[in-house]
Amino acid sequence: MNEAIIQLDHIGITFHQKKHTIEAVKDVSVSIKQGDVYGIVGYSGAGKSTLVRVINLLQIPNEGKITIDNDVTFEKGAVQLSNQELRQKRRDIGMIFQHFNLMAQKTARENIAFALRHSDLSADQKNQKVSELLELVGLSDRADNYPAQLSGGQKQRVAIARALANDPKILISDEATSALDPKTTKQILTLLQELNRKLNLTIVMITHEMQIVKDICNRVAVMQDGSLIEEGSVLDIFSNPKESLTKDFIKTATGIDEALAKIEEQDFVKNLSAGSVLLQLKYSGSATDEPILNDLYKKYQVTTNILYGNIEILESTPVGEMIIILDGEVSSIEQALSDLKNSDVKVTVLKKGAK
Ligand SMILES: Nc1ncnc2c1ncn2[C@@H]1O[C@H](COP(=O)(O)OP(=O)(O)OP(=O)(O)O)[C@@H](O)[C@H]1O
Ligand SMILES: [Mg+2]
Repeated sequence: MNEAIIQLDHIGITFHQKKHTIEAVKDVSVSIKQGDVYGIVGYSGAGKSTLVRVINLLQIPNEGKITIDNDVTFEKGAVQLSNQELRQKRRDIGMIFQHFNLMAQKTARENIAFALRHSDLSADQKNQKVSELLELVGLSDRADNYPAQLSGGQKQRVAIARALANDPKILISDEATSALDPKTTKQILTLLQELNRKLNLTIVMITHEMQIVKDICNRVAVMQDGSLIEEGSVLDIFSNPKESLTKDFIKTATGIDEALAKIEEQDFVKNLSAGSVLLQLKYSGSATDEPILNDLYKKYQVTTNILYGNIEILESTPVGEMIIILDGEVSSIEQALSDLKNSDVKVTVLKKGAK
């Protein structure tokens, strides 16, 4: 139980163009466990889709070894399975995309049934299977609609049903919500989460939005220029990011940068007086339960003015960020700051009042 279902060891992929070579993926090692919802984030060109094509068995890497569900599929630039084994393996992996890739001249039901064309099921069984899949994605009443009659969210539901037709163990989503509005995105993410739980489906989410990672992933890898620069549980990465790119991605998911920019424009922040200090606090887990700010008032008569606050629940653990101003005697402020720095709260002094 819980062993890796997708294991990538030192994967390297190089494309040879006429005049130059492109190292699209460089020495990437990843271990994805059964039941994970695994996020891979990175800017455009980072190598995410190329890496996915490797997992999906469509691209042979130049270097490294891939193991899918205990079978080595590629090693040292060569396929390690027979054609038939490879076809079977591919059926264990479903895929959904940004632009749905449905066939316009087929109904929802026919689009899904098409994925069963090589299956051993009888015609009746196939029909039954398609009905179950439509039910699973909440589209039973739209079975006979053509893609043009469906909304983006509904089209993606058809695509998800199609991807699940052969009961794959793994579902790969390459920017599958990028063409959808925020509300529809949430609905699709909720569906994916249900499928993960109900079917113990392993999901790989390729995205450039950290918000999506925060909403449904349990682990995340960050890619930059073909390399994997940071990897860990979503809770660890969000509460303690190490690389600057990871920090940038996280800021876009919390909105703290925007809040800070607005706060710094305020006159009372521009003209902070002596004995005032503008701070950013980050805390997770038990630190959120402690009435730390209350204690600062009791011990040093230092008051707190909260200008911004955000708490997320990640893997059942609260992770919070605040921007506050502390006010008090100059010496009390120094003591308060030293108390804070000795606590589990991560403190950044953004600005101190002029003397
Ligand atoms: N078949 C190919 N031939 C040549 N270069 C390629 C090929 N496929 C990808 N590349 C290059 O590899 C690099 C990584 O591309 P990839 O599509 O994996 O990025 P990505 O992270 O998925 O980006 P996006 O977020 O825009 O989808 C890019 O520089 C791209 O131009
Ligand atoms: Mg891509």
